[in-house]
Amino acid sequence: MRRTALITGASSGIGAATALALAGNWDLVLVARRRARLDELVARIAAAGGRAWAVDADLIKPEEAQRVVIAAVGCAGGLDALINNAGLFTAAPVDAIDAAHVATMFPLNLRAPMLLAAAAIPHLAVRGGAIINVTSVAADATFAGCAAYAATKAGLEAWSRVAREELRSRRIRVGVIAPGATDSEVWPAETTFDRARMCRAEDIAAAIRLMLEAPTTASIDRLVVTPPGGAF
Ligand SMILES: NC(=O)c1ccc[n+]([C@@H]2O[C@H](COP(=O)([O-])OP(=O)(O)OC[C@H]3O[C@@H](n4cnc5c(N)ncnc54)[C@H](OP(=O)(O)O)[C@@H]3O)[C@@H](O)[C@H]2O)c1
Repeated sequence: MRRTALITGASSGIGAATALALAGNWDLVLVARRRARLDELVARIAAAGGRAWAVDADLIKPEEAQRVVIAAVGCAGGLDALINNAGLFTAAPVDAIDAAHVATMFPLNLRAPMLLAAAAIPHLAVRGGAIINVTSVAADATFAGCAAYAATKAGLEAWSRVAREELRSRRIRVGVIAPGATDSEVWPAETTFDRARMCRAEDIAAAIRLMLEAPTTASIDRLVVTPPGGAF
């Protein structure tokens, strides 16, 4: 029986690479704001014999979580995995963090995964399922200028630890993927980091697939994937 995974942030980078990595074994519900990109990916997956649906949503809006999960279950008939990948990064020193700086990062990086999980859990519990949260090495490393972003990712890791314990009895595994620097659109064009030395989005996708497809007797709780040579 094919299972269904919902992937947020599937229109680019790690989310799109994860969709392509899973498409052979999973039905997919792809979520992001850029509908045209999602439609392209759905068509590519269908052309290769897979099944995917696009749901465009702005996950900064709290009411979208429930709608997205209902749409996913409506398309696919059930839900076995939620991959909370959508996120954004902006840098600011701690004395420059203002309301505008946190106004998008906290709702998208931290609130949306929690609300999506709450909406998805009744469906994930039907056959036993998984929640995978894409965090960052910034959750427990120290990078100047990343305080607010690190707080969102550390918060999501803390949520994941509690959720893992709460959801064991409902046969839902909760895992965390913490990437290091990975070449994607999250990096501004003017970055001084060397993109050639970063991980590929496909590397992170492979780790997500490993976690998701682990035998039911194993919970892979946290994987850290970093560029072996550094990216500076
Ligand atoms: N790249 C790295 O070095 C790195 C390192 C550590 C962790 N991460 C994490 O990895 C995850 C994926 O990032 P990426 O590197 O693949 O970057 P990316 O290519 O910029 O992907 C971000 C995704 O999030 C979606 N998104 C942004 N705002 C959204 C919103 N308001 N509502 C719904 N979807 C939204 C984007 O789609 P739309 O614009 O179409 O909505 C896009 O699909 C993020 O959580 C990021 O924090 C990345």
